[in-house]
Amino acid sequence: MTDEVQSGLAGVISHRSAISSIIGATLTYRGINIDELAENATFEEVVALLWNGELPRRPALESLAKDLQKELRVPPGVLKVLRDVPKDSDPMRVLQLAMCALGLHDPDRDDNSLEANRRKAVRITSQLSAVTCAFHRIRTGKEPAEASVELGFAGNFFRLLNGRNPQPVEEEAVNKALILHADHELNASTFAARVTASTLSDMHSSLSAAIGTLKGPLHGGANRAVMETLQKIGSPDKVAAWLEKTLANKEKVMGFGHRVYKNGDPRAKHLKVLSRKLCELTGQPHWYEMSEKLERLVFEKKGILPNVDFYSATSYWCLGIPPDLYTPIFACSRVAGWIAHLFEQYADNDLIRPRALYTGPREAHWTPLERR
Ligand code: SDX
Repeated sequence: MTDEVQSGLAGVISHRSAISSIIGATLTYRGINIDELAENATFEEVVALLWNGELPRRPALESLAKDLQKELRVPPGVLKVLRDVPKDSDPMRVLQLAMCALGLHDPDRDDNSLEANRRKAVRITSQLSAVTCAFHRIRTGKEPAEASVELGFAGNFFRLLNGRNPQPVEEEAVNKALILHADHELNASTFAARVTASTLSDMHSSLSAAIGTLKGPLHGGANRAVMETLQKIGSPDKVAAWLEKTLANKEKVMGFGHRVYKNGDPRAKHLKVLSRKLCELTGQPHWYEMSEKLERLVFEKKGILPNVDFYSATSYWCLGIPPDLYTPIFACSRVAGWIAHLFEQYADNDLIRPRALYTGPREAHWTPLERR
């Protein structure tokens, strides 16, 4: 045992994994570069790739797409929970609550076998999206929408959220965002899921831990914080002054930097193109102008580049998605990656239990109350 403490486990390799790889500024899922997947794949294909290790052939893809579409609804018992929570609840808290409620209502809830977990994988991946969209519609006084057999996963996500079918550019944007967020090696929320699964706890419990972890502003919560930052700055001419004050206060600029990528997050370039396209299409070019100016100035002053959360914020804004749903959408995509990691953890499990270097008092003794 080494007594060398690695704060935040930075640089520590704790697992072998065959799911995604981050080498330099290249991200691959099962060896396929994210650039190729973002440009060519559907989210359903990426789900199959992450879970099975290879791109699906047509029959398997059609079967998975059909199963996912069938499960894009909230079980009645869970819908009741969504109707009862306070309307102003943080959607990430609602997702974590819903994940536990889904576990209570799942027909395989007490079965942790591979066959049962593969059935749960499909249900959970669709139900988490259905929950996200249903909660948003309920809190805005609408009824949950229904999925359409005519649409794929991305198109149905948009439909469940907005109650209408997407335009092609909207469907393409959602599909690309879902693919780009689907997996990312041992990020904090994936690690949390694996720690829980390593005790042989069940999938719903492991995914509830992951959702709670993704919620944090240093992780998945950054995309919401980016939009709130841009709203606070207000216009492109105010970016420089805001940044100067922020850095002078030693505060972090949300959407920038990364624990692993030091030469740029390869996902950011795809989301930057999406943001520009959607900002122009929706007549809101100032959001993109502000983002680009902030990117340039942060690099000039700190040498730090945008991560996946920076341009996803304005892309989601232009799709009419409220900022407090940005991290839930991240979760609706990353659940596919989390599940792939659960399969891998269960298949070759070792309880995850590191040590701490003790720095507390030694040789301490009990003293009676009157002598303290
Ligand atoms: C995600 O891990 C993953 O893979 C996560 C993720 C995924 O797909 O799962 O990629 C998704 O979580 C992306 C990250 C989203 N978070 C943010 O955008 C929050 C802002 N970013 C920072 O908090 C920070 O960059 C981290 C937490 C992401 C990474 O931090 P590190 O690697 O621990 O680096 P650090 O905090 O030690 O910073 C090193 C230096 C410091 O300067 P000095 O004090 O040494 O002078 O860089 C500075 C930091 O102050 N710095 C920043 C900064 N990020 C780092 N300064 C201002 N703004 C920032 N965003």
